Amino acid sequence: MKGLLFFLALAAVFASGYAGEYTAAVVEFQPAKSATPSQTIEDNVHEYTVFIENAKREAAQIIVFPEYGLTGMVQDQPERYAVEIPDVGSGPTYSDLNLQRLANAAREHGMYVVVNILEKANDTANKTIYYNTNFVLNNHGKILAKYRKINLFLEPLLTPGAQDQKNTFQTDFNEKFGMFICFDILFYYPSRSTIASGEIKNVIFTTAWFSTVAILQPLNVQHGYAVANRVNLLASNMNNVTAGNGGSGIYGSNGAVLSYYISGLGSSRLLISKVGSNVQQSFRTQGLKGFNTFNGKTELDSYITQERFDSNRFTIRKIELSTGVETVEKVCQKKFCCEFNINAVVPTIEEVYQLVAYDGEDSKESKIRGRIRICALMVCDSRGESCASRSILSTTKFLNISVHTEAKNEKEHFYQPVTLRTKLTPLEPLTQEESINEDIRTINVFTKNNTDIILFGLYGRSSGSTIFISSTLLVFVVVFRTLF
Ligand SMILES: *[C@@H]1O[C@H](CO)[C@@H](O)[C@H](O)[C@H]1NC(C)=O
Ligand SMILES: *[C@@H]1O[C@H](CO)[C@@H](O)[C@H](O)[C@H]1NC(C)=O
Ligand SMILES: *[C@@H]1O[C@H](CO)[C@@H](O)[C@H](O)[C@H]1NC(C)=O
Ligand SMILES: *[C@@H]1O[C@H](CO)[C@@H](O)[C@H](O)[C@H]1NC(C)=O
Ligand SMILES: *[C@@H]1O[C@H](CO)[C@@H](O)[C@H](O)[C@H]1NC(C)=O
Repeated sequence: MKGLLFFLALAAVFASGYAGEYTAAVVEFQPAKSATPSQTIEDNVHEYTVFIENAKREAAQIIVFPEYGLTGMVQDQPERYAVEIPDVGSGPTYSDLNLQRLANAAREHGMYVVVNILEKANDTANKTIYYNTNFVLNNHGKILAKYRKINLFLEPLLTPGAQDQKNTFQTDFNEKFGMFICFDILFYYPSRSTIASGEIKNVIFTTAWFSTVAILQPLNVQHGYAVANRVNLLASNMNNVTAGNGGSGIYGSNGAVLSYYISGLGSSRLLISKVGSNVQQSFRTQGLKGFNTFNGKTELDSYITQERFDSNRFTIRKIELSTGVETVEKVCQKKFCCEFNINAVVPTIEEVYQLVAYDGEDSKESKIRGRIRICALMVCDSRGESCASRSILSTTKFLNISVHTEAKNEKEHFYQPVTLRTKLTPLEPLTQEESINEDIRTINVFTKNNTDIILFGLYGRSSGSTIFISSTLLVFVVVFRTLF
């Protein structure tokens, strides 16, 4: 009997993996658009249950589906798609058939399932309102958590969620998770407030992110978040390449890119990885089918990115890199200074690199409120006019790049690395060190032994600022058509 108990205990350890390790699945999902809204949701729910089944074969314990995954993008008439989501603690039986199907799949496969949907609810005056909501089904099919998107983006008919809502949950595999949705990642509430106590080491990010070069590229925003905050990030993006939506990944708290997918070909894709502080790219899926030959490939063209660099607002300095000599430069805009230490092996063909510093309001056109700060190295065309564009090759080998700044330690101001490569993939290795001394915050981002660097630096945001910049000034990242 004792022997049997010991064996069972051992089996339990093997089944659950090592402490602090679990298996996560994220789905890059291309929604079906069927004849009616209810048929659309039903068809996509069916696809979800197939993904849950497939993820189970690879031992996934949690699976994440993207924002707007069940419906495709909905910008008007949310009432055609919205459904009531029962309170936390409800289930595992539901009157809504689609919810029942998802709960059955969660229960049958013993998996935590994170789904985003337009939620219909009543306000205090009994008026019908709509939220952009993630809900989590636990491995018994009950509703474990709900989160309503706070920072809406071009979703005028939706109501923002409350800033103080609970967006965390505990699993029976001993991991705590926090979650938020898309545009939320650019705001302190909730993207940094959720993890501020240090208790949450796993973050779920559902998104329908519209790709924008150079700063807000999906995989690089996701990876930068995980690196800066030392959390595991499960990022699931809706796929619609003709609209520039796509790019999902699983990132480790140690900075490793465990799995990612981005492609110029429209499709859904299941990503699976073990996640834990010791996991290094154990199992990696990549997309890039359309990106293999970069120049003039039509598949690549079908993945649309907003792309433009207008340097007018930035302090810019051209640098001369020479092989074997460390280049040390300091570039300031007003009082905000960026320091660069760069070691490179320069190719025989001439390539132009410039350094930028920026501190000010993001643009009105970009729909992003708040102040941004940027320190970056970027590649430019031979005249130095067009910079940080996907179509400019960068073949210089960088032995190491260190970008450093010091700033007043303002509340709700946060920083993360920002990178860009020609194939829009994350850049490794990537680290960020931060220290606070009195009221000065020091931020350092670093990479080594890399080529194909279009942009490398740091990006800071604070949502509270009221600085106003004249609208005649140009923008770094222009025209966010739909960045959800
Ligand atoms: C994909 O994007 C195109 C262009 O914006 C749009 O017409 C189409 O409805 C989108 N598909 C889905 C499923 O959202
Ligand atoms: C909203 O109110 C209507 C009628 O007053 C009710 O039928 C419905 O269940 C309510 N919805 C929620 C989410 O409470
Ligand atoms: C809202 O509707 C419910 C049920 O329909 C009713 O019990 C409640 O009194 C209503 N509240 C208001 C503020 O009208
Ligand atoms: C960067 O590379 C140079 C040359 O290889 C080396 O001397 C320097 O120590 C490196 N710096 C860092 C921070 O690794
Ligand atoms: C640098 O990177 C290349 C390939 O990207 C790799 O083969 C090489 O081992 C790396 N060198 C060092 C010193 O890390």
